[in-house]
Amino acid sequence: MKEKNKLIKTHKKLNPLSIFVPEIYEFILKREIIITADGSTTIHMPDWNEQYHSKHGAIQEAYHVFIKNGLETHAGADLSILEIGFGTGLNCFITLLEASKRDLKIDYVGVEAYPIQEDEILQLNYVSELESRNFAHKFEEMHLLHWDERQRVHEDFFLTKRQQFINDIDDVNKFDLIYFDAFGARVQPELWTENIFQKMYTSLKKNGVLVTYSAKGSVRRAMQAVGFTVTRLPGPPGKREMLHALKP
Ligand SMILES: C[S@@+](CC[C@H](N)C(=O)[O-])C[C@H]1O[C@@H](n2cnc3c(N)ncnc32)[C@H](O)[C@@H]1O
Repeated sequence: MKEKNKLIKTHKKLNPLSIFVPEIYEFILKREIIITADGSTTIHMPDWNEQYHSKHGAIQEAYHVFIKNGLETHAGADLSILEIGFGTGLNCFITLLEASKRDLKIDYVGVEAYPIQEDEILQLNYVSELESRNFAHKFEEMHLLHWDERQRVHEDFFLTKRQQFINDIDDVNKFDLIYFDAFGARVQPELWTENIFQKMYTSLKKNGVLVTYSAKGSVRRAMQAVGFTVTRLPGPPGKREMLHALKP
């Protein structure tokens, strides 16, 4: 009952048109923590047989797709990033570690409709797997921050966690880079459509880039249809390819 009240409170902040979605998601779908092939944890959703990250290695996937083919391809030291699906905070945490190594100034917006719970956060082993004990409190802090407020996490790293549905994103010319990390098109096809990629395109600055682990033909075509120049790149362990989409 307590859970239900909490959920109703959450609903009020969200678009009423989308209200049916969280009920399906939170009441039917279970979440459990599992260990992936590189030793790092992720969340498994048995009802969908879907994970928050690749079973072949959560950290390896995040580094390959979002850091090597995303963050590292950006020339400037000043960068605004939109993450689609903040989830466990792994991509945000890795970006923070990389930014602090390379003196980058980052404005990071993580969109998430269904934040994970404290007991789940405590079971995630990213701090130890990334040998980043000095940043342990930063990982906690990222999760403890209030939603919908821009706050400094570390030196030049600012984070805004937005409790928002992807469909409600309406930013214009704001981001240099998008980490598109929604669940796969097999389980959430509505998030891999022209409609959503049009929103992503509009939210990017000129020469902005979107990277994603998916390499599906239908996803590539939806991106191209809204104007992206799409390149297939070698994928992370366990995946042949991934997509890099440029707003020309
Ligand atoms: C593949 S997981 C993301 C993993 C995340 N990037 C991480 O590193 O943990 C997809 C995320 O999208 C969120 N999500 C699913 N549907 C959504 C929607 N319609 N709007 C916003 N977030 C959504 C899920 O709750 C989940 O956290």
